[in-house]
Amino acid sequence: MATLFKDVYIADGSREKAERVHLLVSKGRIASITSANENPPSADKIISGRGKMAVIPGFVNAHTHAAMVLLRGLGEEAPLMEWLQNKIWPVEEKLTPEYIYWGTLSAMLEMLASGTTCFADMYFEMEGVAEAVLGAGMKAALCRGITAGEPGKIERSLQNNIELAEKYHGREGLITIQLGPHAPYTVPLEAMKVITDAAKSKGLGVHFHYLETEGELRNLGHDPVKYLADTGLLDVPSLTLAHAVYLDPEADIPSDNVTLVHCPCSNLKLGSGIMPLPAWLERGMPVALGTDGASSNNQLDIWGEMRTAALLHKGANKDPVCITAIDALRMATYEGARAFGFSQKGMIREGWFADLVLVNLDKPHYIGVNDENLAAYLVYAGSSADIAGTMVNGRWVYRNGEYPTLDREEIVQKAREAREAMTTR
Ligand code: NI
Repeated sequence: MATLFKDVYIADGSREKAERVHLLVSKGRIASITSANENPPSADKIISGRGKMAVIPGFVNAHTHAAMVLLRGLGEEAPLMEWLQNKIWPVEEKLTPEYIYWGTLSAMLEMLASGTTCFADMYFEMEGVAEAVLGAGMKAALCRGITAGEPGKIERSLQNNIELAEKYHGREGLITIQLGPHAPYTVPLEAMKVITDAAKSKGLGVHFHYLETEGELRNLGHDPVKYLADTGLLDVPSLTLAHAVYLDPEADIPSDNVTLVHCPCSNLKLGSGIMPLPAWLERGMPVALGTDGASSNNQLDIWGEMRTAALLHKGANKDPVCITAIDALRMATYEGARAFGFSQKGMIREGWFADLVLVNLDKPHYIGVNDENLAAYLVYAGSSADIAGTMVNGRWVYRNGEYPTLDREEIVQKAREAREAMTTR
């Protein structure tokens, strides 16, 4: 079935100006983009924009722990390590595969409504997460969070992560799998080498928390670049470093196989600090955006991260041009897709996957919008409340408050029950 977006604006992270076009979606892809001044192509279904709708690429949440929506609100306003050790880890002990499954689905309701078409998730019991993703028809980059613990735990987690890759990597074009060593402070150096050897031999990427806090930098015990080199992390097929608040932009980090994930709201809320984003962008480092888990953000809204990132660095650097709205849009869409091996995703281009967000511009805060200023309107005036629909591979997964592929009532009920079971003594 072909869907025509008739006379809509398109904007993405590669266009200096928005364009007013007819955009045809067919067979899961953007089939054609033609000027709105021309006659529109025919289609089975027509969405008439009349210049009051925009189509942008679906957002990619490049770092989260989706099922942590079940832990939202626990231990608010505490430093990272205190929060993890006293509030989060004890409740996480009570998580079951079933809770994680429903928690992930509940997170997906939030993400789809806020325009996210793909999320990079590090957690455990990931088979259920993969099944939830396939059932919803969403895209995801999944890894099993690997941490040290009782003897043999790292080995078992790694094996579990590898089995996840064997079963799900590339499934239906919706899922990619990475290896997920949690962080330098939860995985000993020697075990990191075993994990990076596995990544190299299996051809898998690695998703890793790195230098989120100043304390982590102090305790690392190595030069940060030397740590990445010595552990083999710089030699894996692709490396995604979540947070990187304390990584020096002068550091010799390759930009071809490494992507940083900026999580501004989580870093602000936990008082971790501010990543030196403008310097990374200046040197051409790929940087994507992530929310981190809902218990440290507390939203799963990449549109909000986009706005926060753009504002935060202008203020912190006393420089209103150090990050542009188009930079923010590119970080929120294309960079995350690229980092996790989703090709032809994250830009509005003919032949690329129709992973799209439909934005309603027929609202008071869009008065005055035009092709020159659309990106700035979206980032600074807009919000995910303007989203009229979210599409993955040409199929609606969220449309006008409804979820065509998910049972919202059941998911909310099951997630609520899981939360109660975990927090009631
Ligand atoms: Ni995280």
